[in-house]
Parts: sequence; structure tokens; C-alpha cells
Amino acid sequence: MSDDISKKLESKINKKLISKMKKKQLDDGFKKGKVINEVLDKPTVMTLYKMIKDHIIAYVNGAVSAGKESLLFWAVDEKNIDIALKIYLISTSNFKKREPYIIGDPRFLRLKKGTKNLVHLWARKEFRNLSQCHGCGIPVPEPLFLSHNVLAMEFIGENGTPAKILLESEINENDYHEAISILKQLYKKAKLVHGDFSEYNVFKTKKGLVVFDLGSAVDLRHPNSHEFLKRDINNITRFFSKRGISVNDPSEVFEDIIK
Ligand SMILES: Nc1ncnc2c1ncn2[C@@H]1O[C@H](COP(=O)(O)OP(=O)(O)OP(=O)(O)O)[C@@H](O)[C@H]1O
Ligand SMILES: [Mg+2]
Repeated sequence: MSDDISKKLESKINKKLISKMKKKQLDDGFKKGKVINEVLDKPTVMTLYKMIKDHIIAYVNGAVSAGKESLLFWAVDEKNIDIALKIYLISTSNFKKREPYIIGDPRFLRLKKGTKNLVHLWARKEFRNLSQCHGCGIPVPEPLFLSHNVLAMEFIGENGTPAKILLESEINENDYHEAISILKQLYKKAKLVHGDFSEYNVFKTKKGLVVFDLGSAVDLRHPNSHEFLKRDINNITRFFSKRGISVNDPSEVFEDIIK
């Protein structure tokens, strides 16, 4: 699958480059302000180049996953250890959709409504959330480095293939309790609410569940944090319940977490 995606990406980029060359728009390879394949604009390429120069990564192997708002690349460091690079898309990012998860979070007080630079801020927010969780011993990919719209973190998986998410895994009752325990630890230890907790954003690994995609996570003091927590509990409960796992009443789970 990762091969497929990187081939598709490669051919997409090639096609764009060829069509640009035909239109004689190409001088240094990048037209100012132009974006190739939604992410590889000149500043992003320069950021990756700088990360290589600074010995954060040795090289980039290829794309692993292309989401709506980010690309996930598989890179390795000089010791040949896998690294996940989450590259936030600049051109397609939906500022409006993100605002509710950042405005109201006291950690980002200075943010004004309508800020253009929300992509970099979002990357910073996810990095900060990951660090906060990792520091409390919550199972998340270890955050390694942040530069502009590129976040480097521990690669969860093997040989460039990410671990299976809950949706793709065989699951049991224990996984349900582990998922709820993660929500509780996020709340009690990291003082965060995930905000996008679902079967899509939790890996099931040999060592247990690992939660990721923490860009939406908000501080408990955010005015909507309890509403987000209720939604997280409902989403994950619905998933386990649909798979025939016996689950607790979501409102009781909520009361137990916040008490
Ligand atoms: N640390 C990691 N190690 C390995 N793979 C990862 C890691 N983080 C993310 N991925 C892969 O990238 C995919 C997308 O990551 P993530 O959910 O963080 O981004 P997203 O912007 O929410 O994407 P989407 O729009 O698809 O939800 C994941 O489903 C997973 O396959
Ligand atoms: Mg996701």
C-alpha cells in the first residue's frame, strides 16, 4: 500500500512538473508561492533539506499516507531508525474547521480569529500535545522535532508500514478498557481532551494501544472540553459496541473520568 501511494504521488508530481515545463513556468523548479502536490512547496522542501543538514533525518523514503490535511512520510535517521514525518498541507488546510480547537485553549491565548498562519500553529499544537502526553507516560508516538509545518516523531510500525489502526484490527474487551483508560489518562495526567478520538486515530500494537493525531487535543480549560470529551467517549463506545464488545454507558464513563 505504501508503495502504491508513493508511486501515485511520484507520478502526480512528475505530471505537474512536465506540464509546468511545457508552459515554461519552471525556473528554479518551484514557482514562487506555487505548491506541488499540495505539500511540496519550496519552504517545505527547504525545511526537509534543513532537517537533513541538521542530522535530524538522513533521508526520506517515501509517502506512507495522504490524508486530507497532512501527508505522512517515512524517513530514517543516521542510525537507520524509522521516523514518521507529518507534513501539514498548507494549501488545502481548512482553517475554519480548526479554529474551534485552538481558539479558547488558554495555551494559545494570543491567537486572533482569522489568523493565516494556522498551519504552523497547528503543527506546534500537535507537537506540544504529544510532548505533554509523552511526558506523562501516555502511549503516543514520541515527538522528536518540529520545524515549521513538518513534525518528526517515532514511527509506529515496521519497515515503513504503519501499525494497524483499531478499525483494521481484531479487537477485544481489553482494547475497549485500554481505550477508555487512555481517555482518562489524557484527562487526568496530561490535562487534555483528544477531540478526535476514534478507531481511526488509535494504533493497536503488540505492546498495546497507541493514540495519535493529537492536533485537535485541547486543554481542559477550553470552554468546550467537556463537550469534546463526551463526543470522544460516544465515538469510541459506538465503535466497540458495533463490533459486539460489551461497553459501559457513555455518560457513566464521562462522570467517572471527570470526577
Ligand atoms: N507516528 C506514526 N507512525 C507511523 N504511521 C503514522 C504515524 N502517525 C500517523 N501515521 C499514519 O498516517 C496516517 C494519518 O495520520 P494522522 O491521522 O495523524 O493524520 P490526519 O491529517 O488526521 O490524516 P487523515 O486526514 O487521514 O485523518 C495514519 O492513519 C497512519 O497510517
Ligand atoms: Mg487522523
